[in-house]
Amino acid sequence: MTRKRVDLIVGARPNFVKLAPVYHALTRPEGRLAVRVVHTGQHYDANMSDVFFQELRIPAPDVFLEVGSGSHGAQTGAVMARYEEVILRDAPDMVVVFGDVNSTVACALTAVKQRIPVAHVEAGLRSFDRTMPEEINRMVTDRVADLLFTPSADADENLLREGIAREHIHLVGNVMIDSLVASAAGIRRSAILHRLGLAPKRFALLTLHRPSNVDASDDLRPILDALGTIQGRLPIVFPAHPRTQQRLAGNGNGALLRDMGAVKVTPPLPYYDFLRLVSEASFVLTDSGGIQEEATYLGVPCLTARWNTERPVTVTLGTNTLVGNDTRRIVGEASRILDGAGKRGCIPPLWDGRTGERIAGVIESALT
Ligand code: UD1
Repeated sequence: MTRKRVDLIVGARPNFVKLAPVYHALTRPEGRLAVRVVHTGQHYDANMSDVFFQELRIPAPDVFLEVGSGSHGAQTGAVMARYEEVILRDAPDMVVVFGDVNSTVACALTAVKQRIPVAHVEAGLRSFDRTMPEEINRMVTDRVADLLFTPSADADENLLREGIAREHIHLVGNVMIDSLVASAAGIRRSAILHRLGLAPKRFALLTLHRPSNVDASDDLRPILDALGTIQGRLPIVFPAHPRTQQRLAGNGNGALLRDMGAVKVTPPLPYYDFLRLVSEASFVLTDSGGIQEEATYLGVPCLTARWNTERPVTVTLGTNTLVGNDTRRIVGEASRILDGAGKRGCIPPLWDGRTGERIAGVIESALT
């Protein structure tokens, strides 16, 4: 009997970390399905893509759509057109999409229109902020998906409130944490602290890439003002996303950062190095979604440079505090942490490194 076939779709950096555990669980020796990895090419640089495949032991994609960068419409449309050609030639029995990037919604829409069932990993997260492109991607993807894999109970509640039937919802836990657990040895081996001349717990880690923080100079400025104060107390490492690098180069903020002697800007870092920095940081200041969760798992205080989060358990149970782009708030919370009063938090239920297995189990039962 021929095996049923599943496409796993990835496009952007955070997808790779979510794909790996599901890929490994589905392709274990006794796995019952044939798996095809489809990379849309939304992220294409070696340090935004290839290195994650290597470190997370994902084989080279079976299909590469090479869409590259573009406006939301152009990028989403290009993924749809190219993925449709692939499935018209060779249709899988199910399409699995991850997270909330443009590639996620594009492939979900394409599949459902070709009557191929869709599974969404990391379903049900809501920031309730429709100015965030990811929020639109989440809502649309969940609406068309048949299997909705949620990381936490709040996500189930969101979906139920939106009228999605309970039998479609599977609370499986946080798949990103699986990658973190599986990579523990590689993360420990990373020599990044030595390379950057940092001492454990004596530095802060910064990431910024949300359009709402980096696209307009006026939005970024209050965060940079806060850094100017914080760097007086400890060095700050800033692996800068390509979007952020471009914006900094295009206005005076790049020079402002360069003038801060204790802020070290680096290119985007590989997974092991980056997670080593998270685990050894005194605190993290970020606008990323995933890093809020990784910091919570590692028990490292996280200040989130946003006014909302689609991951509320990181605030209620974890180490996360929302600080927006308010200079006083950022400096105040950073000082509290440095004075020993940072949030300790606990690990949310089902963030146990076994989410990929649970997802694979549900997909296999649905298809075989
Ligand atoms: C995307 C996701 C965001 C995710 C982030 C993680 C959407 C809507 N956004 O945002 O949810 O948190 O990835 O990184 O899907 N670029 C490069 N090299 C690359 C990739 C991008 O130079 O390998 C540059 C391009 O010039 C591009 C810009 O970065 O225009 C932004 O890339 P894009 O994929 O559009 O969105 P991100 O900001 O990365």
